Amino acid sequence: MKKLAFLILLAACQPKPTVQTIPETGPTGKSAMVASAHPLATKVGVQIMKDGGNAFDAAVAVKFALSVVYPQAGNIGGGGFAVFRMANGSVGALDFREKAPLAASRDMYLDEVGEFTEDLSTIGHQAVGVPGSVAGMWELHQEYGKMEWQSLVQPAIDFAFEGFSLTKNGASILNHYQDEFIEANKYTPWMINKDGWKEGMTVIQRELTATLGFIRDSGRDGFYKGIVGDQLIKEMMRGNGIITQEDLDTYEPVWRDPVVSTYKGHKIIGMPPPSSGGIALAQLLYGAEKFDLGDLSHNSSEYINLMAELEKRVYADRTIHLGDMDFYDTPQSTLLSPNYLDERFDGIAMNSMTSSIEITNGVIPLKESEQTTHFSIVDSEGNAVSITTTLNGSMGSKVMVKGAGFLLNNEMDDFSAKPGSPNMFGLLGSEANAIEPGKRMLSSMTPTIVEKEGQLRIVAGTPGGSTIITSVFQTILNVIDYDMTMQDAVNAPRAHHQWMPDMLYIEKGRLSESLINELEQIGHEINERKYIGKMDCILVRDDATLEGGSDRMRGDSYSEGF
Ligand code: GLY
Repeated sequence: MKKLAFLILLAACQPKPTVQTIPETGPTGKSAMVASAHPLATKVGVQIMKDGGNAFDAAVAVKFALSVVYPQAGNIGGGGFAVFRMANGSVGALDFREKAPLAASRDMYLDEVGEFTEDLSTIGHQAVGVPGSVAGMWELHQEYGKMEWQSLVQPAIDFAFEGFSLTKNGASILNHYQDEFIEANKYTPWMINKDGWKEGMTVIQRELTATLGFIRDSGRDGFYKGIVGDQLIKEMMRGNGIITQEDLDTYEPVWRDPVVSTYKGHKIIGMPPPSSGGIALAQLLYGAEKFDLGDLSHNSSEYINLMAELEKRVYADRTIHLGDMDFYDTPQSTLLSPNYLDERFDGIAMNSMTSSIEITNGVIPLKESEQTTHFSIVDSEGNAVSITTTLNGSMGSKVMVKGAGFLLNNEMDDFSAKPGSPNMFGLLGSEANAIEPGKRMLSSMTPTIVEKEGQLRIVAGTPGGSTIITSVFQTILNVIDYDMTMQDAVNAPRAHHQWMPDMLYIEKGRLSESLINELEQIGHEINERKYIGKMDCILVRDDATLEGGSDRMRGDSYSEGF
C-alpha cells in the first residue's frame, strides 16, 4: 500500500488529465424512463408505460421495435440476457442466449489440418446459433407482463409495415456491409442496395411485417413453428446450415440466479454464466475497492494503468474458467471469493505494468463494431429491467431468412472454436467454452443493476463485444466514485484491456497526448479505437428522480422519461 500512497501523491502533483466531456445531464423523469439504442424504440417503451404497462411490458415492446428499426443488433434472430429488480427488492435473471445446434461439433470450424477457419463461424449459415430472443420475450412476458402480448408486438409491426426513417448511422452501417450481404445470401434481401442507403430514406420491411404478425398472434410458436420455423429451416438448407426443427422445438430460455456482489456499500446485480459479465464485473469491482481505484484522479495514467492491471487478470480468468455452467463446472464461488481475489491481484504493482503472457498465434486487433444492443427501463412502480441482446457481429451472420425478413446471428463465433485461437473480438478461450451440441456460448454481455442502501440506483449496460464488461465497470465507477451525472458518466472517455492481446485500447481523440505518453512510458502498447461501448443507462438520483444517460455521442442512443 506504500506504493499506492506514493502514486496518489504523484497523481496529485500532476496536471489534471484531459477529460473532454461537456458537463451534461440526461433527460429526467419523475416516474419512468427508457434508454435504448434508437429514439423510436425508446418512445415505444415510454408509450407502453404511459398506457399502463410495467417495465417488463415496455422491455418486450422495445425489444421487438429494435428488431425493426435497429437491424444491426436489435433482433429476433439472436439472443440475450435480462437482469431485473422488482420494486420490492427481489432480483432475477433470464438467459435467452442462443445455443449450439444439436448437430454442432467441437471441431466444426477447423480445416483438414486443424486450423481455425474464422469465416465459417462469423459469416453465413454455419455461424448461426439457435435463436433465443422470441422465446425470451415470451417467457419474460408470461411471468411478469401486465399488458396483452399483442399490443406489445404491434408497434414493431407498424414500423415494419409503414416504414421508418434511416438515421445517418443506420444508413452508414447498411452501406458498410453490402459485400457481406451479397456473399452470405443466396438471394437479394432488402438490405442490398446498389445505389447506397442515405439518411432519411424510408425502410419498409414487408416480410418482417408478416413474421412479426405470426409472433403477435401465436407468441413464441409463431417464430419457432409453422411458416416462420419452416422458412428458417429452408434458409439453413439453402446455405448448408445445421439448425433443424428439433433445435427450434427444444429451445428454452433459462431463469438464473443473478451474480450479487458489493462495491463500497452498493449491491451489484449481474448476469451469471453463460455470460462472463456478472462474474468479471464483480471481480473488477473487488479489485477497484481493494486498491482504492476511485481515489485516483479520474482517467489519469495511474487510474488507467491500475484498471488495465485488474482487467488483464480478470480476462485471463474469463478465458480459462468460464463457460455454460449447464455443461461446465464453472468455479463461480471461488472466482468471487476474497481469498482467491486477494491472491489473484497480489502481483499488481501500482506504478508499473505486468506484461500479458506471450501469445503464439499473433495479435488480432479488435474490430470496431457496434454489435449487440442494450436497453434499460424503470417503471413508475420502481421495477427495473436491464436487457442486453445481440446478433453477435453487426448484422450477425449477414444471412437474412428468405421470406421471413430477419437476420440470423453469428453467435457460434463466441465459442472457443480452437483453444488458443482468438475469436472476432480477439478473445481467447479454453475447454470451458468448447463447442458442444445444445451448449450456450460464453458471452461478455453485462446487463447490470446497482442498488444503494436497499434502493434502486443504476440500471446499466452496453454493446461492444469484449469491451462490454470494462465499459460497464467504468460507468459504474464514474457515478459512485466520481459523482458524475448519468449522462456525464456515459460520455466520459473509456479505456479497455482484455489480457490478450497485450494492448491498451483507448478512444481516439479523447485523451491528451501527454496522458498517452505517460501510459506508453509505463509500458502500454496503445491501440486507438473510434469508440468503446455505447451505454444506455438510468440513474435514480438522490431526490428519486430518474436520469437517462444514453450514448448520443457514440451512436443514436436516446433516453426519455416522464
Ligand atoms: N456476442 C457478444 C457477446 O455475447 O459477448
